[in-house]
Amino acid sequence: MIRFEHVTKEYGKSGVKAVDDLNLLVERGKVFGFIGPNGAGKTTSIRLMTGILAPTSGRVLIGGMDMAKDPVDAKRMIGFVPDGHELYDRLTGLEYLRFLADIYGVEPERRKAHIEKYLALFELEQAAGDPIRSYSRGMKQKLTVIGALIHKPPVWVLDEPMVGLDPRAAHILKEEMRRHCDEGNTVFFSTHVLEVAEKLCDEIAIIDKGRVVAEGTLEELRSGETGTSLEQLFLEMTDAEVKAE
Ligand SMILES: Nc1ncnc2c1ncn2[C@@H]1O[C@H](COP(=O)(O)OP(=O)(O)OP(=O)(O)O)[C@@H](O)[C@H]1O
Ligand SMILES: [Mg+2]
Repeated sequence: MIRFEHVTKEYGKSGVKAVDDLNLLVERGKVFGFIGPNGAGKTTSIRLMTGILAPTSGRVLIGGMDMAKDPVDAKRMIGFVPDGHELYDRLTGLEYLRFLADIYGVEPERRKAHIEKYLALFELEQAAGDPIRSYSRGMKQKLTVIGALIHKPPVWVLDEPMVGLDPRAAHILKEEMRRHCDEGNTVFFSTHVLEVAEKLCDEIAIIDKGRVVAEGTLEELRSGETGTSLEQLFLEMTDAEVKAE
C-alpha cells in the first residue's frame, strides 16, 4: 500500500512546485497508473515514493511505514524500475543481478530461481554473461526489471517500464504486473501509452503541473460518459484552455 499525504516538492529555492499537495492512496491488489504530460511531476512523485528525494512538506507511507522515519524498511518493500538505465556497465548481466541479490540479502536458492525464471521469460539467457555495456536499450530495460524484483518486493514502482521493450517483453511484463496484484500486492507505474493504462489499470491518476486533476477507475474518470477514451479524457483534463473555461 502506498499513501501520499499532502506531499509537496520544490526543487532548490525556485518556488516552483514540481509536486503540489499530492494526496494518493494506492491499495493492495491494485494496478495503479500514473499519467500526465511531460514535466507534470510523475518522475518526481516516484522519486519521492522510493525515498530518493525527500519532500519539501508532507509524507509518504509504504505499507504503513513512513519513508522519512523508517527508510530502510520502507525501501525494502519496493521494487523500483527508474526511467533511465542506471546500470553498472562493466558488470555482466548475471554479476549485476547477483550484486543486487547480495545487497538485499536474498537467499542463494531464491536468487537462482528468480534469475533463471526471468532470464528465460525475457529471453536474456544468451546475453547474461556479457557486459552490460554491450546490451541494447531494451535488454538493459529487461535487466533493470529483473533486478528490481529480485528481493520479491510487495510494492512495484515502475517509471515508464515499457519503454524500449519489444512487444513480447512488454506483454510479459504486463502479465507479471497483473499477476503480482492478483496475489494481493501493489503496482504503481507511470506511462505515456494510454492504451496500456486503459487495459491494465484498476485505477488511474492524471497529474498536470504537479497536481492530480483526475483520479479513479476508468469508469469514474469517464463520469458516466461511456465510451469516452482515456486519450480524450487526457486531452481534455490537461488542456489549460479547456480547464479555464
Ligand atoms: N533535478 C531537478 N531539478 C530541478 N527541477 C527539476 C528536476 N527534476 C525535475 N524538475 C522539474 O520538475 C517538474 C516535473 O518533472 P518530472 O521529471 O517529475 O516530470 P515527468 O512527469 O516525469 O515528465 P516526463 O513525462 O517527461 O518524464 C518539471 O518542471 C521539471 O523541470
Ligand atoms: Mg518522468
